[in-house]
Amino acid sequence: MEHSQPSRPARPRRSVLYLPAGNARALAKLPDLGCDGVIFDLEDSVAPGAKDEARESLRLFFAEGRAASLPAGMEKIIRINSLGSPWGAEDLLAARGCRPDAILIPKVDAPDDIVAVEDALEQTDAPASLRLWAMIETPRGVMNAGRIAGQGRTDGARLDCFVTGANDLIKDTGVLPQPGRPFLSSWLMQIVLAARAYGLDALDGVYNDFKDEPGLLAECRDGRAMGFDGKTLIHPGQIAAANTAFGIDPDRLAEARAIAAAFALPENAGRGVISLDGRMVERLHLGMAERLINKAARITARIQGDQNT
Ligand code: COA
Ligand code: MG
Repeated sequence: MEHSQPSRPARPRRSVLYLPAGNARALAKLPDLGCDGVIFDLEDSVAPGAKDEARESLRLFFAEGRAASLPAGMEKIIRINSLGSPWGAEDLLAARGCRPDAILIPKVDAPDDIVAVEDALEQTDAPASLRLWAMIETPRGVMNAGRIAGQGRTDGARLDCFVTGANDLIKDTGVLPQPGRPFLSSWLMQIVLAARAYGLDALDGVYNDFKDEPGLLAECRDGRAMGFDGKTLIHPGQIAAANTAFGIDPDRLAEARAIAAAFALPENAGRGVISLDGRMVERLHLGMAERLINKAARITARIQGDQNT
């Protein structure tokens, strides 16, 4: 059964940093970082021989309360190995025990990959607040993105966010990594479109050359223009660029406030379309405006939270 209208999360997700779960120095650095989210990675950044150790260090990080003392607004996500891999089942149990905000499933090809994790979580009585994020990074994942996103609308579904895996897409398709991503872009746009059709957030893939700031900024701006909510990152030096590119534009915020104020006037109650400063504004713009205002408030809270810690 489908929900009539999913409520889209308005959490700031401008900058979401991958961190190999077994990297103690990177874990120690985390409290000082201004990223909106962190993905503790048990998958591709951890070598097969180091999986158990990484899982154990992650378990301790949460069990000892170090995760709980991270800045309040920083979302915590754990990327597990696929359930079909030798580590997936144990990763899922460990991740669920850590009580993160979300678990990120890699290499999602079809809705069944989400359903399998949902079912496994139900067996552990996982709290309803635990969300699922899905990596879209395979040819089949891109082709099925709409059906996968649609799974997020079924009753009790946990799916909340798509994460683009650009490196895997490049590897699996043979497309050349080029500045501006000319041949990758159509697939990225499919990811955004599928997410939007079903009320999910969508994050852009990583920029590997972490010393190339102008290149990163250009790619962040492209991602923003494509409609992504934020960018996944690999290095702390990339956070500021993503926060800037995916931050709230003051002009758009002022416009959103004007739209909300106009529709709040008694004479406009019940009207579907009004004129504002010589332009037509429809009630659908009010929904967008309210979402932007809400997100801006959360970003401000996130920034103030950083200053208070
Ligand atoms: N999260 C938190 N801290 C990080 C970090 C990350 N992703 N990447 C680097 N740092 C820390 C380093 O530990 C170092 O801190 P220290 O001086 O206290 O040791 C500092 O930032 C500077 O790091 P730097 O020396 O510039 O980089 P590096 O050579 O240590 O690491 C990478 C480079 C690419 C190996 C590392 O950034 C990394 O592992 N990134 C994540 C990769 C990943 O998760 N990939 C999977 C998804 S694509
Ligand atoms: Mg990948």
